[in-house]
Amino acid sequence: MTNHFDGNASASNISERSFPAIPRYLQATYWWAYIHPRGVRVFERQWLVNLILWGNYKRLCDVVLHGYLQHLSGRTLQIACAYGNLTPRLAASVEGNGTLEVIDILPIQLDNLARKLPQDSSVRLHCMDSAALTFPDQRFDRALLFFLLHEQPLAVRKKTLAEAVRVIRPGGTLTIVDYAGPGWLNPLRYIMAPILALLEPFARDLWKEEVPSWLPQDANITLVCKQRFFGGLYQMLTLKVG
Ligand SMILES: C[S@@+](CC[C@H](N)C(=O)[O-])C[C@H]1O[C@@H](n2cnc3c(N)ncnc32)[C@H](O)[C@@H]1O
Repeated sequence: MTNHFDGNASASNISERSFPAIPRYLQATYWWAYIHPRGVRVFERQWLVNLILWGNYKRLCDVVLHGYLQHLSGRTLQIACAYGNLTPRLAASVEGNGTLEVIDILPIQLDNLARKLPQDSSVRLHCMDSAALTFPDQRFDRALLFFLLHEQPLAVRKKTLAEAVRVIRPGGTLTIVDYAGPGWLNPLRYIMAPILALLEPFARDLWKEEVPSWLPQDANITLVCKQRFFGGLYQMLTLKVG
């Protein structure tokens, strides 16, 4: 069953309802970052997230918001929570009858996000698996995947992309921000390779392959914009669906 609660609710208030099972990769690899309450307390610091991204967190959030022209009308979906102020900034960009919905598989992350949103926030939070969204087809005008794909094994990553494409209406956009393969002359290539191998075992897939290669083959998707940042270590893709 999917749980819906507004931005002011606490996930702990609805813990009697059922949630999707926590995937094995999340439990095995990222328990310390996302699942353990101490991890949430430690990592929910803007400066720390910024440090982990070598000072690029604000810049990458700015690029996302700029891509949306700072105005979010229609229906927007953020697939998975992120530490820092990205979602509050997205929420502040919603205008008119626009809506912002955020899914995450971990109630503790949704709870943490709810605390970062203003009291009167209309952001809708859902406990859902990115690989099995329960939204109907073509529900959203746009969806955002911010540093999720590199955390997922290939099979899950493909399902996440297929689900994102499924819930976007024809003409809508999918924005992806994540790691990419840094250039050979980028010294961070040699620093990040062992760090990612140790802490983020699926991330190197994004160094070796292009994200569109994991999109559903039968979908009509156009790459509108591809940007690289910080010597190629990060990328932002804008894809048009349909
Ligand atoms: C999107 S990434 C963001 C990482 C990035 N370092 C940050 O916080 O800015 C982390 C989130 O993805 C969520 N997540 C991982 N696998 C998921 C899945 N299959 N479905 C939904 N959320 C998932 C985790 O629970 C976590 O909240």
